[in-house]
Amino acid sequence: MNEHSGIEVDLAQLRTRTSAKWTSFPEDVLPAWVAEMDFSLAPPIAQALSSAIARSDTGYRSIGRLPEALAGFCSVEWNWSPDPAHMMVLADVMTGIATTLRFCTRPADFVVINSPVYPPFYSTVRDVAGRNMYDVPLVPDEQGRYGWDLAALDAAFARPEVTAYVLCSPHNPVGSVPTAHELAAIARSAAAHGVFVIADEIHAPLTLAGSTHTPYLQVAGDDARAVSVVSASKAWNVAGLKCAQLIASPMVAEELFASIPLETQYGAGHLGVIAAIAAFEHGEAWRIEMLDLLDRNRYLFGERLIAELPAATYRPPDASYLAWVDVSAYGLGDDPALPLLEVGRVAVNSGPMFGAGGEGHIRVNIGTSAQIIEDIVARIARGTTGSQDAS
Ligand SMILES: Cc1ncc(COP(=O)(O)O)c(C=O)c1O
Repeated sequence: MNEHSGIEVDLAQLRTRTSAKWTSFPEDVLPAWVAEMDFSLAPPIAQALSSAIARSDTGYRSIGRLPEALAGFCSVEWNWSPDPAHMMVLADVMTGIATTLRFCTRPADFVVINSPVYPPFYSTVRDVAGRNMYDVPLVPDEQGRYGWDLAALDAAFARPEVTAYVLCSPHNPVGSVPTAHELAAIARSAAAHGVFVIADEIHAPLTLAGSTHTPYLQVAGDDARAVSVVSASKAWNVAGLKCAQLIASPMVAEELFASIPLETQYGAGHLGVIAAIAAFEHGEAWRIEMLDLLDRNRYLFGERLIAELPAATYRPPDASYLAWVDVSAYGLGDDPALPLLEVGRVAVNSGPMFGAGGEGHIRVNIGTSAQIIEDIVARIARGTTGSQDAS
């Protein structure tokens, strides 16, 4: 641990973890890829899980008071009060997206996404739901903020073959939080053209100082054909426990939920439900400490980049712990992640996997300690020079 925060974990301890982040590369590679954070678990979650283990409470999931706990969190955090009766507990967010796509679209339909975006959006629309992709790329402004191209979205929604839209809010990997104005325009276009909106709001509880997350359903209203998919998994780092919540607008809840197969409805893990209730009811002190750390990390990462990779382009994210960095000036080709792994011994996500606009980019996980951030940037810098002597 260093002096900055009690939730940081040192590298030796992190290397004892057996999750995907820590076991997919050789020991000399520093992992800064998949969206898991390196912090210690929030004490109320650790206690809830330990006491579940102590009483051997590892049977099939019961959702208990999770809908009410989530509604309480939404009310305090966003002044939004979704009805617990309009929530369904599922294994994960991508299951919520896939199952909703099957409900609201037909096989020949087109689904709008905004590249560059979280890679499973592509595979879920195409391979899992068997639908077609319609890309309306995000557009960077003069300050480098990627925003939603509202005119292009409206034109896309007007096409008869387009029937659904998967909105990533806040957006992974660019870190933008859509404004209430952007969301209102999207909701108006979707309503006008009968497009079903699936808002992936998994990163919403990770919105950082200076930005405000607005829940899509709050803007779109009760008559919207829309859902939000949320989870405690990103903000409280419990993705492996498998628990997410689908919140449907009153307009679609009954019909949508009736369409969801039983095995999907029972896919969540019981420990995931226990952890999510603890997160929403008692996880606030830890979340505030963690957000404060992420706030510092996004600027520290920028400072280290300026010092070691001055030709890289980076805008600190407005939410979450994923840094989207353009390193094309270093001439590493379309997919810089490969040479950075081979030479720098640092595992970052490949930009092209996020679709159009990902060439020459990397996504770097900065949900870690200050010390590890410094090591990550040093390794990226070594990787760009082609030097083999990375330690
Ligand atoms: C935008 C977004 N959606 C969905 C997921 C995956 O969530 P889950 O594991 O609950 O399917 C992630 C994971 O990083 C994500 O960033």
